[in-house]
Amino acid sequence: MFKSLILIILFFKFCTSLDTLTTNKYIKDGQSLISKGNNFALGFFSPGNSSYKYLGICYVKVTPQTIVWVANRNHPIIDSSGVLSINQYGDLVLHDSNNRPLWSTNVSVQDQVTTSPVAQLHDSGNLVLVQDNNKKVLWQSFDHPTDTLLPNMKLGLNLKTRINTFLTSWKSKDDPGTGNYCYKMNLNGSPQVFLYNGSTPYWRNTLSPGNNVSIATSSSGQKFFFVNNQDEISSYYSDDDPSIMTRVVLDNTGLLQKLMWDDGVHQWKEQWSTPRYQSDKYGHCGSYGKCNPDNINRFECMCLLGYEPKSPRDWYLRDSSKGCVRKNSGLSMCKNGEGFVKLEHLKLPDSSIDAALIGTSMSSSECEQACLTNCSCTAFTSMNTDGKGTGCLAWYGELIDILQYTDVGSELNVRVDATELAKYTRKSKRSLSKKRKLAIALVSIAVPMFLVSLLAYIWLAKKKKTKVKRKVHKQSLNFASTRGSFEGHELEDGSTHPDLPIFDLSCIVAATENFSPTNKLGQGGFGSVFKGQLSNGQHIAVKRLSKSSRQGIEEFKNELMLIAKLQHRNLVKLLGCCIPEDETMLIYEYMPNKSLDSIIFDHTRASFLNWKKRFEIILGIARGILYLHQDSRLKIIHRDLKASNVLLDTEMNPKISDFGMARIFKEDQTQDKTTRVVGTYGYMSPEYVIFGQFSTKSDVFSFGVILLEIVSGRKNCDSYQKHPSQNLIGYGNYGEKIELWI
Ligand SMILES: *[C@@H]1O[C@H](CO)[C@@H](O)[C@H](O)[C@H]1NC(C)=O
Ligand SMILES: *[C@@H]1O[C@H](CO)[C@@H](O)[C@H](O)[C@H]1NC(C)=O
Ligand SMILES: *[C@@H]1O[C@H](CO)[C@@H](O)[C@H](O)[C@H]1NC(C)=O
Ligand SMILES: *[C@@H]1O[C@H](CO)[C@@H](O)[C@H](O)[C@H]1NC(C)=O
Ligand SMILES: *[C@@H]1O[C@H](CO)[C@@H](O)[C@H](O)[C@H]1NC(C)=O
Repeated sequence: MFKSLILIILFFKFCTSLDTLTTNKYIKDGQSLISKGNNFALGFFSPGNSSYKYLGICYVKVTPQTIVWVANRNHPIIDSSGVLSINQYGDLVLHDSNNRPLWSTNVSVQDQVTTSPVAQLHDSGNLVLVQDNNKKVLWQSFDHPTDTLLPNMKLGLNLKTRINTFLTSWKSKDDPGTGNYCYKMNLNGSPQVFLYNGSTPYWRNTLSPGNNVSIATSSSGQKFFFVNNQDEISSYYSDDDPSIMTRVVLDNTGLLQKLMWDDGVHQWKEQWSTPRYQSDKYGHCGSYGKCNPDNINRFECMCLLGYEPKSPRDWYLRDSSKGCVRKNSGLSMCKNGEGFVKLEHLKLPDSSIDAALIGTSMSSSECEQACLTNCSCTAFTSMNTDGKGTGCLAWYGELIDILQYTDVGSELNVRVDATELAKYTRKSKRSLSKKRKLAIALVSIAVPMFLVSLLAYIWLAKKKKTKVKRKVHKQSLNFASTRGSFEGHELEDGSTHPDLPIFDLSCIVAATENFSPTNKLGQGGFGSVFKGQLSNGQHIAVKRLSKSSRQGIEEFKNELMLIAKLQHRNLVKLLGCCIPEDETMLIYEYMPNKSLDSIIFDHTRASFLNWKKRFEIILGIARGILYLHQDSRLKIIHRDLKASNVLLDTEMNPKISDFGMARIFKEDQTQDKTTRVVGTYGYMSPEYVIFGQFSTKSDVFSFGVILLEIVSGRKNCDSYQKHPSQNLIGYGNYGEKIELWI
């Protein structure tokens, strides 16, 4: 019984599948054309939830059904009546029940009487229509791809047939109709491949220009070929192991993916995909902007050398869409002492807009000369063309979609005016001599260092106890010395940031009269604050992390890192730090009017604060918070805003201080959660106290409390309350009036 069933199935399969389609045969719904090695099948299918039928090619051994090509993508068959055959003109034609042609190869061979064309499906997934015993290929599906690129299938322009092959996405998972996205080669300027959304570029890839055949091999054994000769300008890929099934597909959301079939788990596994991040997208940093996706802590966009953000405000808010403009736009860059600055390891700007390959055998200096003499030339690159010489690619308009790589990529010479050129040459000289000095210093230090550290190691192994103690100190020291890498506020990499000064302990001791109690300004959670005066007369406030407080080290590091990166009129200014043996100190500018709480809650001092002044203080605090939350490069939640953390300078300008608890948020992050709720009761928002959730909103809550305190002159949580549960916020609930202490 079982055996006969298998026989029936085998018979059925044999009956309904062909390996060659000839003029006297046809394929109906339920039948298929199978490739010789049983890799691919051509037949009728219904994608997703669709009830329509399409003729397509799929993998034989892969379930769920994976379609790699569709014939009648925009002309579905509404029932099961589709028939594929070869007509009297030698064309492959698909008909529906009314004998209406829905799709055709449309090659119309006239002399098919003598040699009838036949259709075959190759093991590569290519459906071919051939004549004269496979000698003449009349038509092939590889020349008319849908959304899938198979190994050895070429994408690009065949210069003989003038056929430009490109991928187009499906409309949706249920509809293989021509969708919005396409992946296509663009030959303007120098060959590039674009992913378009409609007609707008969405992602771009440069191809090494001018080469006859270039091959790039990835670590997983895939080879990428780029062919540029008299016959074709195309690219394709192949895999080392032909038994592995791979495909590149442009899906209906615009994602280009390379997938590999994993036989073990019966799933397609992604090998790579693009565009993955916002920064991958075409022109993410605008014109004359450069994207550096490796910038983790900073804004990934930078202006090219000699350019600055068109809208600095938008740029600070990390909106780079307006791009950059030339710095000294008044200064002519035409026969006016201008020159070129070489930038390395770049993805070259889009050359399809306003660029041209001006020569194939020009040397680098000839190329430079050619660009220099044409005043509209903005940049050039000179590249290798198969060892025959060097080609010269020049841009005559905006430079867009530039990416910074770390070690790969091309070099671009950007035209800059005389002042920028002078600045740049000075700087590069300086950094060169700096590097040389460093090398000499390293060699002369390294050898004795090794001997010393060997001795030290032997000595230290005996004294483990002291080692543990040192570690804490070293951590903070390392931290301070890496300060230079936390860039400040410059908009591009051109200018450097001075290091955070490290004060000598003796100078701090002298300034604070050996931390005399008379100079003590206050006692914080992690240590004390002392007033001092430097030898140059400048007043300082020294925040000293107590030796006993081990726990404070994290907060201290946090504060150092944050405050060093921030600069605003309404934030307290860090002057430097001092890191002697197992101790850490931060040095701030001194605020003669102390903290806000020492004034507003003090009857006599508060009387000096009129409404105007109070309003200005409120406004200043708000400005500081706005800067933290949105105007600075980082998004920072302070988490401990309170009256005692707002300091006042001589003009009574408020300055927010104490960033020990602050957290950096990612650009798009709105909320975070902590199990360790730190802050001050009375200023913390309910969701923070109860659930540990904090966001910009929790800071705004604290600001609200400070505002109430400034207006009312009363502490939010005070012991004078009649109702223990009642505080300043709850006042209104009881219908009482707040008696103002002004
Ligand atoms: C088909 O429809 C079902 C139910 O309506 C849905 O869950 C599923 O995602 C659909 N499949 C596709 C490929 O759209
Ligand atoms: C067939 O090709 C001719 C020109 O080569 C074109 O005009 C015609 O529209 C095509 N027909 C179909 C059905 O694609
Ligand atoms: C493609 O363009 C359309 C229309 O402009 C837009 O709605 C869509 O979000 C774009 N797709 C992507 C992935 O950006
Ligand atoms: C360059 O292309 C020609 C065909 O135009 C080909 O014969 C030759 O082998 C190619 N050279 C290399 C190095 O691939
Ligand atoms: C500069 O190059 C552009 C683009 O090739 C060209 O249109 C223009 O005529 C050139 N100008 C001069 C002065 O050579």
